[in-house]
Amino acid sequence: MAEPNWTDVGAADDLAQSPLRRMTVNGRELALSYKDGAFGVVSNACNHVGGPLGDGHLDGDYVTCPWHSWKFHRCTGIGEPGFEEDTVPAYPVKVESGRVLVDMASGTRRKRKPHAPHPLARKIERAPGPIRLAGISTSPMDEKNPRFSGSDHLLDHALKTCGAHGVETRLIRLSALSFRSCEGYYSKSAHACTWPCSITQMDPQDELDRVYEALVHWADAVIVATPIRWGAASSLYFKMAERLNCVQNAITIRNQVLIRNKVAGFIIVGGQDNIQGVAGQMLGFFAELGFIFPQFPFVAHSRGWSREDMERNVEIVRDSEDLAEGAGELARRCIDLAKHLIAQDEAPSAIERGGRKAHALEMEKSPSTAGQPD
Ligand code: FES
Repeated sequence: MAEPNWTDVGAADDLAQSPLRRMTVNGRELALSYKDGAFGVVSNACNHVGGPLGDGHLDGDYVTCPWHSWKFHRCTGIGEPGFEEDTVPAYPVKVESGRVLVDMASGTRRKRKPHAPHPLARKIERAPGPIRLAGISTSPMDEKNPRFSGSDHLLDHALKTCGAHGVETRLIRLSALSFRSCEGYYSKSAHACTWPCSITQMDPQDELDRVYEALVHWADAVIVATPIRWGAASSLYFKMAERLNCVQNAITIRNQVLIRNKVAGFIIVGGQDNIQGVAGQMLGFFAELGFIFPQFPFVAHSRGWSREDMERNVEIVRDSEDLAEGAGELARRCIDLAKHLIAQDEAPSAIERGGRKAHALEMEKSPSTAGQPD
């Protein structure tokens, strides 16, 4: 057993002012807590993906990680009931002559309970089989009392056109899924925004895993259909897009391209205006995810600023053979390009200077990756 190494970390009166804090002692990051007249010291690095425990909060005697809420006993480092096999290093601590002393030589060992990886975390490789097209409907709708949607109608044509030519198709209606909004893990730390999405990993009720599965693993091409609402894509589109931040973030912080050899196209239907604005926004976002576009990557319809007769708009979209054919042709362009990309397989799996990374990225290292001894 190593000789104790009692190290003075500060005045007890000062350190007792905060229930939980993060501190660096001899190059090691610690989470120091104070409750019911006693100090506790554990490693600052959470077992999950290295969240800074000292920046979290106390729940009774448990330190709650600020990133995804894993909990460890503030004195023993043992995981909360049910997760005792997960422990972070804990250090002996005492108070002498008004000073807090931590024995840096006697930390317990970190233990990690093996956690089965989330199914989405599997290696990304195209499964053999026919070419595959996913349609994403973003039209908000009461699923129990459905109405006609122009963008859904054209999406349906796009899928049917390809389905008739041996393409496997899958339709995902966002309005039929129950999924949480992005809760801003990225704002806590880039490392707290994980692939698969932190919410997907923590909440088995969240149904956006269907979209991740389709976009990242299953589909060779995707067509996203949206109505225009106040000059923008639908609220459900943005709710999905925010949750796709984890796909883009994988490129930004881990240099991992999750979307390879995949094609995206868009169907945009509005009563009034701003098709180009909506298309530009969608194209920009899907480009950042790693999708490639066919020549002329969207089809759209709008009757113009002065038209307020939406019933008429519905009629036009429903009865237009041109629009239906245009949607089908868009799907075919997507599929043709996807076939070509798959055959060439030239998309990079890592990219050094893409998007925001044109600048070298400066960010704090995750505590778990900082190379500190435990
Ligand atoms: S819960 Fe701590 S890093 Fe995720």
